[in-house]
Amino acid sequence: MHILTEQPTTALQYSLSEGYPKLREQLKERMVKNFGIDMENNELIVVSGSQQSADLATKALINEGDGIICEEPSFIGCLNTFRTYKAKLYGVKLNNDGMDLEQLEKTLKENKNIKMIYTIPTFQNPSGVTTSLKVRKRMIELAVKYNVIILEDNPYGELRYSGEDVPTIKSMDTTGHVIYAGSFSKVFSPGLRLAYMVFDKGIMEKIVVGKQATDVHTNVFSQMIASYYLEHYDLDAQIEKIRLLYKHRGEWMLECMDKYFPTKNVSWTRPEGGIFLWVTLPEGIDTQKLLSESIEKKVAFVPGVAFMTDINKPTSCLRLNYSTMPDDKIEQGIKILGELLKSKLD
Ligand SMILES: Cc1ncc(COP(=O)(O)O)c(C=O)c1O
Repeated sequence: MHILTEQPTTALQYSLSEGYPKLREQLKERMVKNFGIDMENNELIVVSGSQQSADLATKALINEGDGIICEEPSFIGCLNTFRTYKAKLYGVKLNNDGMDLEQLEKTLKENKNIKMIYTIPTFQNPSGVTTSLKVRKRMIELAVKYNVIILEDNPYGELRYSGEDVPTIKSMDTTGHVIYAGSFSKVFSPGLRLAYMVFDKGIMEKIVVGKQATDVHTNVFSQMIASYYLEHYDLDAQIEKIRLLYKHRGEWMLECMDKYFPTKNVSWTRPEGGIFLWVTLPEGIDTQKLLSESIEKKVAFVPGVAFMTDINKPTSCLRLNYSTMPDDKIEQGIKILGELLKSKLD
C-alpha cells in the first residue's frame, strides 16, 4: 500500500523496458552472490515471467524452420512457445544425469539448422531430474563447438532440499553462448508475473526491442513490490521455509509410492528438489487414456505426451506434483493411483 502512497507516479506510469532500475540492481547482485554469474559481460532485464524469456529468446534468435533441441520430456509451455515461432523441435533423451550426450552431439552434427538448446538443468519440469556437472560442462563445449545458444531455464534451482548444489550452466559461460532465465514464480509469487533474463551484452538491443514490441515493460507495480520485499525482508529465509515444506511433501509422496505403487516394470525419479516427479510405466500403457479413468476416481496427473516434442505419439509416462497437497491428500491420491496401476498391470 505504501508504494502507492509514496511513489504513485513511478508505480503507475509507463517505465523502462529493461525493468525497474532498483530491482535490476538487486537482481544483478543476487546473480553474482547466489548463482556465481558474471555480471560484467552480461546484461539482466526484468521480464513478465520466465515464459517470456523463452518467447523473447526465440523471437530474437530463431527464424522459421530453425532447429531447437529440447530435453525429451520438456516443459510444455516453452515447447509451445517454440512451436508458435515455427521452430523445428529435436528431442534428445533425458537420462538421470541430463541430456544424452551422444544423441545431443549426433543431433547437432546432423542438423545444421539448429540454433538453440533448451534445457531445464535443475529439478527439471516434468521429470525432477538434475543435470550433472559433467553433462553441463560438455553441453557448453558442444554449444561453442557448434555455435548454438543454450537457453538455461532455472525456475526451480533454488528449491533444493537434499544433495549438493550444481553450478548453473550460465556461471560456466565465458563465450556468451548461454541465456539464463530465472523467475520469481516458484519462490515468491507466480501471479506477479516477474522473472529475469541474463544474457551476453551483445544481444541486449535485440532482446529489448523484442520486449518493447511485446508488452513495453513488465508491470512496474509488481516490480516495486518485489524490490521492496528484497530490501526489507529475507527472500533466502523464505525460500528455506519452502524447501523444508517441499522436502517433507516430496519425501512423503515417495514413501507413499513405495507403499502403494506396483514395483514390477514401474519406475519413478527421486528428485532432490523442485516440485515434480516422473513415473514410467511399461510400454503400451497410454497414460492419456489412463488419465480419464484416474479422473473418475478424482486423482489427476499430467500424461507424458504433453511434454514430448511429438504430441501425437502416446507415452507410458506421467508427471506427479507434490508441492500443493497436504499429507492426507497425497497419501489418498497415491493409494488410488497405485490401485489403478495394479489393476492395469496384473
Ligand atoms: C521449466 C519452466 N519454465 C518456465 C515456466 C514459466 O514460469 P513463469 O511463471 O516464470 O513464466 C515454468 C512454469 O511452470 C516452468 O516449469
